[in-house]
Amino acid sequence: MLRVFALLLVAAFALAAPPAPGPQFVLHAERASQDDLELGGELIGVPAGETRYARYEDLLRLPQETHTVSDDTNFPHGTQVTGVPLDELARRFAVNSNEALVVAIADDKYRANYPRDYIADHHPLLVLRLNGKPREGWPPSEVGGPLGPYLISHPVFKPSFKVLSHEDEPQIPYGVVRIEFRRESIVFGAIRPRIAPDPSSQVAQGYIIARQDCFRCHNSGAEGGTKAGRSWMQVGEMAMNDPLRFRAMIHDPKSVLPDAKSPAQPDYDNATLDALTAYFRTFSHLASRPGGKPTP
Ligand code: HEC
Repeated sequence: MLRVFALLLVAAFALAAPPAPGPQFVLHAERASQDDLELGGELIGVPAGETRYARYEDLLRLPQETHTVSDDTNFPHGTQVTGVPLDELARRFAVNSNEALVVAIADDKYRANYPRDYIADHHPLLVLRLNGKPREGWPPSEVGGPLGPYLISHPVFKPSFKVLSHEDEPQIPYGVVRIEFRRESIVFGAIRPRIAPDPSSQVAQGYIIARQDCFRCHNSGAEGGTKAGRSWMQVGEMAMNDPLRFRAMIHDPKSVLPDAKSPAQPDYDNATLDALTAYFRTFSHLASRPGGKPTP
């Protein structure tokens, strides 16, 4: 009986003890190889704002999971994916791991955001091997470049919310070079509607959609991706001043710019485009001018 109790006690401690980075895992102040993963944001034991580098070989020593994945558009169906859960990375490296928003930054300045509820629902992994192979054996990306140095995938992706015609989308960046552990209130605070809207309003719905979609490539100050090279405010100006062009840029960007890289969202219906227009208009300078209308 005593032995069972002791075992239970040990088990309870094993569960409760924060799994700090093991002695074998060293974060480096300098990059040693292109394969190193940059870590930033709020890291345990690291002054705020400083970057550290994790070596690929060290990441391979962290607890790994392997899944056969059939719904990730970055590689063929039935590919075996091996990697470290983002949750595990947060537990090891993030200050306030239970609250940290994980941000994955790609070499083309695209950013994927992983709030806590997304991590709990979808269990994303930082992928280290595909079909057991390191990056040299990976297929090319959709645009013909490398998928590495890192990419993010899921065991399986089932959308967990729907707002108008936007369904929860898998966040599956490739070319990932950096992971940050951030505060959701700061990152999402940069694009939260300035005036707290009624949750069922167009502005509130547009915000939820833009946060998961547009924020990957369009930035607001230091937050959000900069792949598009057009800020949240510039998108806001267009929503205010040229709403037809704004809608076309979402629905069918090539109809506006023949070689547009902005992704088309042909399934967004009128109500969805209206919500995005209403939300982005609140970021136009006209909306913030005294007498300007913040929401239509
Ligand atoms: C995968 C990256 C990506 C995402 C996601 C994205 N955009 Fe863009 N966006 C771009 C790029 C790149 C451009 C620059 C023009 C181009 O190459 O398409 C752009 C340009 C724009 C422009 C300016 C067009 C012009 O005439 O200059 C608007 C407006 C815009 N995007 C709106 C949006 C909205 C609204 C969303 C979310 C519903 C969104 N974008 C999501 C990449 C993205």
